[in-house]
Amino acid sequence: MAGRVTVVGAGFYGSTTALRLAEYNIFDEVILTDIVEGKPEGLALDMNQSRSIEGFETLLIGATTTPEGAGYEKTADSDVVVITAGLPRKPGMSRMDLIGVNAGIVRGVAENVAKHSPKAVIIVVSNPLDEMTALAQIASAFPYNRVMGQAGMLDTARFTNFVATKLGVKVSVVETLTLGSHGDTMVPVPSRCRVNGKPLSELLSAPEIEELVVKTRNGGAEIVALLKTGSAYYAPSAAAARMAKAVIEDSGAVMPVCAWVDGEYGISGVYLGVEAEIGKSGIRKVVETKLTDSELAELKVAAEAVRAKQADVKNL
Ligand code: NAI
Ligand code: 2OP
Repeated sequence: MAGRVTVVGAGFYGSTTALRLAEYNIFDEVILTDIVEGKPEGLALDMNQSRSIEGFETLLIGATTTPEGAGYEKTADSDVVVITAGLPRKPGMSRMDLIGVNAGIVRGVAENVAKHSPKAVIIVVSNPLDEMTALAQIASAFPYNRVMGQAGMLDTARFTNFVATKLGVKVSVVETLTLGSHGDTMVPVPSRCRVNGKPLSELLSAPEIEELVVKTRNGGAEIVALLKTGSAYYAPSAAAARMAKAVIEDSGAVMPVCAWVDGEYGISGVYLGVEAEIGKSGIRKVVETKLTDSELAELKVAAEAVRAKQADVKNL
């Protein structure tokens, strides 16, 4: 076991992520923080009491923090920090409706993280994801490779689940991919979808595939509408935890993540959902995949949409 990972925000997303990370049994410590006094300590105590049942040794540490930075000393020298602090959507809200309030939270968190864990890799999950990732990089002043966002792993997993359910096959034989933004300009990539190695286009008609693409783009909103009081967290936490695991293990796993794009696909200077190789340094490199002309065009539209919003976050 090696290393410490901090999860900022002990809400639904943060607490499920912390438990998944601890249950991997690969970290020495998982630190869970929140501004609600006692909440992270209580959750950490509860999770620690599951260790002998579930068979993991990783110690969970709860730490109440303040927006000004008190309490962050307990997170010092973390190798990875997952930022989940921020409001989730309510029914009818878009992720973008959260930008004003979450920008203030993420900016403060990223500054405190940079102060106490100057060598960490930051994984942002707070929404709107692409903009909050860009803001965390600006506020932390970390190099681009050490700040990434979680969205593509989740959106891809949703696409996989919808394809598997539609065809009545195991998820393990389905491969899908989703790029672009974690919003309206999400780009599910049907040309990269395979079922038992067969192209999806040999198994479903074009309208059926389009239906799954739309369902994937709407995946988060569908759950928000059902829950009414918050957003998804089981699949999202699985995605963020896998990214943190790839960092600490320096695994080189290639995953769809929100990464700084610098020339790939003819796109530069923006945080965007792309495939990337993940390791101890964060993003080792962006991995380009072959896209159809229309998929590439959609990716470029997504890049311009998030570029415009990311330019605004500096001032929030
Ligand atoms: P939640 O409301 O359950 O938890 C948020 C927690 O953040 C609360 O406990 C709150 O006290 C805490 N918090 C607020 N300000 C803080 C600060 N300055 N420092 C530390 N903690 C602070 O919300 P949930 O469901 O956990 O979602 C968290 C965020 O993740 C939301 O913005 C949501 O939209 C986003 N999300 C992103 C996904 C993605 O794929 N990127 C998927 C699902 C959710
Ligand atoms: C989701 O996709 C709301 O971003 C969150 O579930």
